[in-house]
Amino acid sequence: MIRINDNFIKLPASYLFSEIARRVETFASTHKGEPIIRMGIGDVTRPICPAAVEAMHKAVADEADASTFKGYGPEQGYMFLREKIVEHDYWKRGIDISADEVFVSDGAKSDTGNIGDIFSSECKVAVTDPVYPVYIDTNVMSGRAGSLTDGKWSRIEYLPCSEENSFVPSLPAMAPDIIYLCYPNNPTGTTLTRTQLKAWVDYAKSHNALILFDSAYEAYISEADVPHSIYEIEGAKEVAIEFRSFSKTAGFTGVRCGYTVVPHELKGIDADGKTVELNALWNRRQCTKFNGASYISQRAAEALYSEEGQKQIRDTIDYYMENARMLREGIAQAGIRCRGGINAPYIWIKTPGNLSSWQFFDLMLSKCHVVGTPGVGFGPSGEGYFRLTAFSSRENTAEAVERIKRLAAHM
Ligand code: MLT
Repeated sequence: MIRINDNFIKLPASYLFSEIARRVETFASTHKGEPIIRMGIGDVTRPICPAAVEAMHKAVADEADASTFKGYGPEQGYMFLREKIVEHDYWKRGIDISADEVFVSDGAKSDTGNIGDIFSSECKVAVTDPVYPVYIDTNVMSGRAGSLTDGKWSRIEYLPCSEENSFVPSLPAMAPDIIYLCYPNNPTGTTLTRTQLKAWVDYAKSHNALILFDSAYEAYISEADVPHSIYEIEGAKEVAIEFRSFSKTAGFTGVRCGYTVVPHELKGIDADGKTVELNALWNRRQCTKFNGASYISQRAAEALYSEEGQKQIRDTIDYYMENARMLREGIAQAGIRCRGGINAPYIWIKTPGNLSSWQFFDLMLSKCHVVGTPGVGFGPSGEGYFRLTAFSSRENTAEAVERIKRLAAHM
């Protein structure tokens, strides 16, 4: 029989969101006719905006005509999209990124999961805790995580974020080579200010560390002092790779399109001590394992940068952020502490009555028929917390708030 990659055996049996879906389906099958409000996985519910839909129709027409047909595209993405990205997402913020530093992909989940291919399996990793499970699980798969004891991997440094430190992680103590940061944060919905993020860039520069900066939620930022890109911080191009996604910005969770920025300044070292550009390595990896995001999804993404596209996606984000406000205020009125929902579509709830994350999950499902995500699923410091998303409909959000208030009144 074929010898398998033993690292897969070390992983928890199922991915967090698959496990939640399984539990919810079990509940639904025994409670038919009782509508469930799903606020677990951060999947959007509003339709794709008209500008992108129109661009997709045109792209389909291109594919239907021999004179405009597109087969394999560039593995790095079409220039028409890469140029729009640098112009709108970077130059307009005074950040000098060139189109050949941008790699278009099928989303930030793939890129944050795949980026480990270009680093040594000896690299030491640090993560904020709680954390998006993809960062940890993919390092387990590639043998960088060590062994699991009491919910923690032995070779990974966990940087706790909780009410005690106002969700601002301390700088690492164990000299990691790779640091994952996600801001605005999934799952806590919290942010770092410009000064706080600068401390991380300075740390990375002085300790030769690389920051993997996931800014999939930057479109939700409403406060002026919260950076949209890590490259707003001086010197960050020498120490950080940035991941972006159109999933939450424009409802592309099903369409699939995102991108990763790997500046030319970023260097690594090989076993012979020779310096290598990370941009060249990522390009080599993508050309070998990836054939590019579809032409249709890239044309849709391009349309988001038009004047009407920008206005339409802003309207949808405002819709979700009104949901976030309703959740935040309603939950606080119910006497339950929560964070997030100001610069991110996630509400991070402190479970009432000292319930564990899974106990509160079960209570919310059985009494309110509301699905959330147990905080402990994101790491040990998530124990005693619970995440709700603002991606539901307005009606369901209002209904969920009422049900939570009724539940809290009886606790
Ligand atoms: C989440 O719920 O944390 C996200 O939707 C997961 C993802 O983006 O893959």
